[in-house]
Amino acid sequence: MWRSTAQLQLWNDTFYHKIEAERGLEVSTKVAEGHRFGIDNVKKVCDEEGIDCGFKYVDGHLYPKDEESSSYDLLEQELQASNRAGLSDVKWVDLGGGQDVGGIRRAVQFPRCANFDPIRYCEGLAKAISKRGGAVYETSRVKKAEGQTVTTEAGQSIQTPVIVFATHSPTHKNLAVHARQFPEKLYAVALQIPKGGMADGQFWDTEAPYHSVRFVEGTSKGDCLLVRGNNHTTGIKPEEIDADTYEKLAQWARSRWPKAGEVAFEWSGQLYAPIDRLALYGQDPFNAFHLDGTYYIATGDAGQGTIGGQIAGKVISQQILGQEGPWSEMFAPARLPPPSKDILSALGHVISDTTAGYVDIASPAGAQMQNADGLAKDSGAIIQQGDAPKIAVYVDEDGVQHKHSAICPHMGCVVQWSPIDRSFNCPCHGAGFDRFGKIVQGPATSDLEPVK
Ligand SMILES: Cc1cc2nc3c(=O)[nH]c(=O)nc-3n(C[C@H](O)[C@H](O)[C@H](O)COP(=O)(O)OP(=O)(O)OC[C@H]3O[C@@H](n4cnc5c(N)ncnc54)[C@H](O)[C@@H]3O)c2cc1C
Ligand code: FES
Repeated sequence: MWRSTAQLQLWNDTFYHKIEAERGLEVSTKVAEGHRFGIDNVKKVCDEEGIDCGFKYVDGHLYPKDEESSSYDLLEQELQASNRAGLSDVKWVDLGGGQDVGGIRRAVQFPRCANFDPIRYCEGLAKAISKRGGAVYETSRVKKAEGQTVTTEAGQSIQTPVIVFATHSPTHKNLAVHARQFPEKLYAVALQIPKGGMADGQFWDTEAPYHSVRFVEGTSKGDCLLVRGNNHTTGIKPEEIDADTYEKLAQWARSRWPKAGEVAFEWSGQLYAPIDRLALYGQDPFNAFHLDGTYYIATGDAGQGTIGGQIAGKVISQQILGQEGPWSEMFAPARLPPPSKDILSALGHVISDTTAGYVDIASPAGAQMQNADGLAKDSGAIIQQGDAPKIAVYVDEDGVQHKHSAICPHMGCVVQWSPIDRSFNCPCHGAGFDRFGKIVQGPATSDLEPVK
């Protein structure tokens, strides 16, 4: 959540018309209901708990990537499907093409989306939990969950009748989950912008991957335009990563919002895209050790996990309480994906990423060089000498080499170096490690093994 641009979107970015085509109107209607619920529930919680997180209803706008008639046709299709899904106030608008709206004229408007500050929201939630007798522990990494016992890195254990893996990607090895989604890196840039330089609201284009833009008021560096985009598959080889990605994102934003100025902040993060458009919320599927339904997962939100957190919370809490809510079935992690062309292609994507991660164990192509002597300071690579196992090496600012096994402790794929966020990332299921091999992103739960 702390890496999010935190737009609570009424638009589902896997497209309502595609969900309807693949699963029917009943499902697209329930997905739309979930988005409406998610937005309004954040507001309700803020009001009830007195959380000041800058929550503000704003309109969201889906606009064409170019002036081709096919781009407008796509928007028309999405508008019609949104209306059929019960979002009757979604409509065409003319934004006038001014600089403050990124030069956008005709767009499909999704009223009453919302922007908020997710950190302040989570702090408020933590207080609300404590107030009711609950406890929140930070910096307590869970190392393993076995039966009804959860054990942390530091060796403490907790007995619990129910475990919810709300760890972005579940920290277990259940391929019935990991093969249903693929990890993607995505990037965000905040550009300073003077008052009036940008209209308040949300703006999404129809590029693939799409740009998503919002305004944020009063950061430590003033008002900013937040733009996110340039997604790519996690764990690709360093030479395939665009080293100028932040600059290109900033330039793109300035080309549409000319008053956007200096870059105030830039960061990357990860999303988990489900192969069949819908997130996975509910009982951990086909887990031979937990057919009794004591393990739950919330994952596969793609780029919409701030809404997804609200929906997952509702679905999973209802299931724990033995209630069958309206959204359980469509988000059930054990569901069968419909056999559409897009879904088969997404499944192919998962298989090829995973295969690449394992092929790299044996193939010389998994390494960039034979030793780290030629590596510039403050950079990393995967090296391999002869038949020896591959090593993830980082050379620090003083020229000291830090070496770790390149084998991901989750399920054994070879990690790859990212020169942008100076980290090692696993192509198989997205585990991430900082330049010193320390785990920063699951599903792995331990660091890369140090090598002498
Ligand atoms: C750049 C960027 C922009 C985005 N913009 C938007 C947006 O505008 N709107 C939107 O809806 N979504 C957006 N998203 C997506 C959204 O942020 C994610 O989908 C969402 O944060 C996922 O929530 P989560 O709670 O599942 O995972 P996370 O937010 O990753 O939280 C998981 C938590 O689990 C903890 N954890 C992990 N492993 C362990 C372990 N072993 N033991 C203990 N704790 C553990 C982590 O430390 C973390 O605190 C964006 C994502 C990125 C990267
Ligand atoms: S994340 Fe699963 S093998 Fe690396």
